Amino acid sequence: SVLGVNSMEWTKEQRYRTMEDVSEEEIQRLANLVNQCPWRQSFHIQPETGLLNDPNGFSYFNGEYHLFYQWFPLGPVHGLKHWYHTKSKDLVHWENVGMAIEPSNEFDSHGAYSGSGIEHDGKLYLMYTGNTRDEYWNRHPYQCLAVMSPGGSIVKMDAPVIAEVPSGYTDHFRDPKVWKNGDHFYAVIGAQRENETGSVVLYRSRDLKDWQFVGEVKTGLGEEFGYMWECPDYFELDGQGVFLFSPQGLKAEGDHYQNIYQSGYVIGSPIDLENIELKHGAFYELDRGFDFYAPQTTVDHQGRRILVGWMGLPEIDYPTDRNGWAHCLTLPRELKIKDGKLIQQPVPELILLRGKKVETSQSVENENVRLDNFEGDVYELLAEFSDSSAEAFGLELRVGENEKTVIKYDAVAKKVVFDRTRSGVSFAEEFGAIRKCTLDAKKISFRIFVDVSSVEVFVNDGEEVFTGRIFPGKNSNGISVFAHGGHTNVKAVKWDIK
Ligand code: FRU
Repeated sequence: SVLGVNSMEWTKEQRYRTMEDVSEEEIQRLANLVNQCPWRQSFHIQPETGLLNDPNGFSYFNGEYHLFYQWFPLGPVHGLKHWYHTKSKDLVHWENVGMAIEPSNEFDSHGAYSGSGIEHDGKLYLMYTGNTRDEYWNRHPYQCLAVMSPGGSIVKMDAPVIAEVPSGYTDHFRDPKVWKNGDHFYAVIGAQRENETGSVVLYRSRDLKDWQFVGEVKTGLGEEFGYMWECPDYFELDGQGVFLFSPQGLKAEGDHYQNIYQSGYVIGSPIDLENIELKHGAFYELDRGFDFYAPQTTVDHQGRRILVGWMGLPEIDYPTDRNGWAHCLTLPRELKIKDGKLIQQPVPELILLRGKKVETSQSVENENVRLDNFEGDVYELLAEFSDSSAEAFGLELRVGENEKTVIKYDAVAKKVVFDRTRSGVSFAEEFGAIRKCTLDAKKISFRIFVDVSSVEVFVNDGEEVFTGRIFPGKNSNGISVFAHGGHTNVKAVKWDIK
């Protein structure tokens, strides 16, 4: 039989079985269960079976985008992690390539954890964290290397490239992100100080094999900003330095930090590699919705900086678990900087998905109007609101009997609101079902990508983004516009997804 739904039912032995011990038949049974799931996505990267988490090794190499992800094939739990490989020519249509890195050595026996990819000498170097556990279940991390040839074959190096945790840090030391500067490669690696606070350390190498510890990166975030920084990423954009990471342990504060863990960024001057210092402004969350974590960026041949995130969070059970799978990746977003903040826009290639189009212009006043000919469970929708006097206005998606997902602007509080209280099967309720963020603007636009079980909302051309999984009934397909306490004009365009 296929293993249980409830992550608590999984024993250590079941989570850490290697694929060699698994029969084809068992995988087939699991795949059948997955295929019966009413919430399989249609245009997002998702696992064929089991659990997907962080995007890894995101890179443009040999004429294609390569995007790997953390994968536990055998069920919807965090078990033995592999790297799975997908690739694309256009960031829109992805091909499942297959298993990329299997945890098969003594230095990655308990998981090939997250890491990044970089081209060198005509090959793609994949640097990742090998996770191991000793007999007392203490973890010890190794930073490892695997090399992919242009033909796509991947060979692991037979020894780790960083075997020791630097002194002063705990075994929470993982997720190398590599970039090149002049003659050197640099890697930022998430690290936990011995006093159990989060930090990031810097390494340097000439050949990606021999690495020197440079030191801890000094930031302006204070001595205590969470207990661990996962998935760090550093890059330069428009002459500025951007440091992105996923801190664990920030406390909820007003509309901020509402999810179990956060991910966000700071922007400042380019990193000072001599003094190992980042001078920067405030920390901002990348996504104001519910299901977003551990993002990673790459730069492509056109010089664009592109980000993909995990549309999920650790330690939370999802309604798809009972069908033997969990999570997907977000759509790729192009990053730009405006007024000291990141602007995130869906990559322009996504218009390749646009199929049949419908549009409407409506004047809405103290009413809720179901839009004729606008319906579906998979589409792109652009809604622009203007001349608004209303106290609140917005959209309802996936509307059915007793179900709706609400995206609105509260013009009194000057906040964008994403409400999944009535979006269908509920989950993660302990973290609340409403997300808000402040946005002071006269004109509001929502560009929304709706897939079978997700919503990604780009507000005002990417000034803020809200991502959330939703699990509505198959027949909850309506789209409505509304205005309370006044009036608004809305222009809406919807495209089916091809
Ligand atoms: C973030 C993370 C990483 C780790 C990976 C393991 O979600 O915990 O820090 O490398 O997932 O799957």
